[in-house]
Amino acid sequence: MAKLTIALAKGRLQDEAMKAFHQVGIIVAPQELSSRRLLITDEKQLYHFILVKPTDVPVYVEHGIADLGICGQDVILESIADVHQPLDLGFGYCRIAVAGKKHETNLTKELSVLRVATKYPRIAANYFQQRGVPVELIKLSGSIELAPLLGLADRIVDLVETGRTLIENGLEIKEIISETTARLIANRASFQLKRAAILELVDLLAQAINKPK
Ligand code: PRP
Repeated sequence: MAKLTIALAKGRLQDEAMKAFHQVGIIVAPQELSSRRLLITDEKQLYHFILVKPTDVPVYVEHGIADLGICGQDVILESIADVHQPLDLGFGYCRIAVAGKKHETNLTKELSVLRVATKYPRIAANYFQQRGVPVELIKLSGSIELAPLLGLADRIVDLVETGRTLIENGLEIKEIISETTARLIANRASFQLKRAAILELVDLLAQAINKPK
């Protein structure tokens, strides 16, 4: 069977993704998992996993370094990479939301330009453009919730999972832009050249995630 290389988003989706592979019989030794190695292999040496930043997953897949990747739909929406999306894995549910200080409303009526801090400039630009709201986008890499608190921005566009970060920083959701879950993505050429191996894995993962736990 063709060997597959899979780019995995480090962080919130990594454990769930490895659990899904484990469920379908793709076993990575615990010492590999707990190591700091960024390139790990399953026990049967059939699957290589590349551990990368979430935003880099579509880059490795589009360029064919990885045949497959797992990352959030948020990352795919933000990316310009041309990749195939064969499967919604269902786990890693989050919302992409516009948030701001609690009880602060009607800002768009008061301000001619809304300052929006985000690590999703593309998603934010599309969203506000569709609504005809002029915005100044401020690109940040993390801790986005600080921006309204410190006066850097009027609103943020960010990922909300439990909502705890918003609450603990005195912020609230103003609008939901989209929902997001983990997706399996595939390099377009690999999807043709390694079709049988990829489709077999897609089927196994689909069965595993639909199985009652
Ligand atoms: C994400 C997101 C929020 C937080 C939401 O950040 O940007 O800050 O998680 O999670 P919650 O709703 O469960 O509180 P992440 O942990 O990826 O770190 P970052 O701030 O470095 O982007």
